Amino acid sequence: MPHANPLILLLFSALCLDIYGQGVTYYGDIKPIIERNCVSCHRAGEVGAMPLTSYDQVSAYGRMIQYVTSSKLMPPWYADAAYSHFSNERVLADMEIKTIGDWVSAGMPPGNIVEENPSPDASQKTTPQRQPDLVISMAESFEQYGIYLDQYQVFVLPTHLSEDTWIEGVEFVPGNKKIVRFAAIAIEPTDKFDSLDRWDPRYGFYSFGGTGKTTFEPYWYTWSPQQEATFFEEGTAKFIPAGGKLVVHMHYGPTGRPEKDSSSIRLYLARGKKAKRIQTIPLINPYTLSSDSLFIPANSVKTFHASYILPYDIELMSLTPQANLLCRSWEIYAKIPGTSAPVKLLKISDWNFNWKQTYHLEHPLSLPKGTEIHALARYDNTLENPCNPSEKPVDFRWGAHLFNELFMVHLEIQPAHEDVGGVHWIVPSVVSGDSLEALLLLDKTHYYEIQVCGQSANNGKPLYAGIFKKGSNALSLGIADLPGGNYTIRAVDNSGNLIAEQMFVKMRETGL
Ligand code: HEC
Repeated sequence: MPHANPLILLLFSALCLDIYGQGVTYYGDIKPIIERNCVSCHRAGEVGAMPLTSYDQVSAYGRMIQYVTSSKLMPPWYADAAYSHFSNERVLADMEIKTIGDWVSAGMPPGNIVEENPSPDASQKTTPQRQPDLVISMAESFEQYGIYLDQYQVFVLPTHLSEDTWIEGVEFVPGNKKIVRFAAIAIEPTDKFDSLDRWDPRYGFYSFGGTGKTTFEPYWYTWSPQQEATFFEEGTAKFIPAGGKLVVHMHYGPTGRPEKDSSSIRLYLARGKKAKRIQTIPLINPYTLSSDSLFIPANSVKTFHASYILPYDIELMSLTPQANLLCRSWEIYAKIPGTSAPVKLLKISDWNFNWKQTYHLEHPLSLPKGTEIHALARYDNTLENPCNPSEKPVDFRWGAHLFNELFMVHLEIQPAHEDVGGVHWIVPSVVSGDSLEALLLLDKTHYYEIQVCGQSANNGKPLYAGIFKKGSNALSLGIADLPGGNYTIRAVDNSGNLIAEQMFVKMRETGL
């Protein structure tokens, strides 16, 4: 074998080195990547720990940025982008991750200075043109403790709406963007939270993994950083029953010094228009587990599987999984009747309690009656799990507290055919306690039979049946004996045809 000329080798490797770091500079390559993907959170006054708006700031964190991007910790996005995509997805392309790595390895050259803009506002909001009809604000500002711990507080905000109201747009306005990490808004017409509010001397009340009690509609609207005002599709709206209150579960991020927040919610009413209801409902819940109850003994790793068969056609708009600290992963998919490959909905391989969020589908997904929604979640109650809140593992049972676990997927849906047969009804998403209160507006045939059915509705008899007349009817149904689970309320016309149906979940009071 002839010897290679050492000079040529040297030249070659020098060339390689040059190609390796070729031209990757801050101004040429890195700045645009950071501006597109990071600056909306990493600039003054925002939630990101430090600003990344100049060469000096970015290069000071160079190695750390290389680490957090290559390990996919930043930008924060926990859904597996190889499984499914969402409209609010935040991911870097592999090429961008490599470019950042190459730049750091090449000594972070600045390159030719391009005018240093004063922090370009990458998330420049498209502020709604319209004035909100109603602005609901926190009654006081809340001061989180100035310590390096996340804090969770619930605020009950009255809307003073004396009538049932349809909402066609919502905007959550964080009062202090440095600390507001997540807000989950539920709707509740009763005063059931008053006692909890009294218990905590501060404004609102502390609650870790949820509001601590069931609500008329949990996860009615959620906000996480970068979420803009939402206007729902023409002819669709969210619903607030008369007297409804907004129950806002806030997650405040850690800071070294006390920070105050006073957030507000802007509502845009759908006046006088008839709308299809966009409903959020926890169709995947512990009652749909295929075996076992949600019990995670100390020092065990357990995977739970749940499924639910849709009783009617829906359009799915978003998914919000809910679990506490032991949870490690989620996989959610749908099996549509007559098709073999399941529709992949959401996979989270590294569940992070502090980056909870709603995953908005790119387009509403039509799921026909008979579709099976499946969810798998894995919980690690060993010390291998760095998030285990206990230094010595203890048994975990269902609940919203720190040493409890949750298993819930909230689906934001629209019934594909509502108001067929002139039935309009207001049924809570979640029912607890002794009675189901619903309002039915029946305006076609003279008489309807209203039935409440369980999962095996089609084979079995309805659990409840009653005759109602045309017009507005208030239904109050004793359901104390009904076991927890998913149900439908159905309207059957004079000739026995099923004409409208709505799902609800019966859950014990501490369900959420
Ligand atoms: C949605 C808001 C958001 C976006 C987008 C975002 N970050 Fe962050 N980043 C945060 C928050 C909040 C923290 C504080 C740590 C935490 O809570 O996870 C953080 C922390 C960091 C840290 C410090 C990590 C540590 O352990 O202290 C680095 C470095 C970082 N981000 C880099 C980036 C880079 C680079 C991008 C873009 C590729 C980016 N971030 C995009 C919100 C964001």
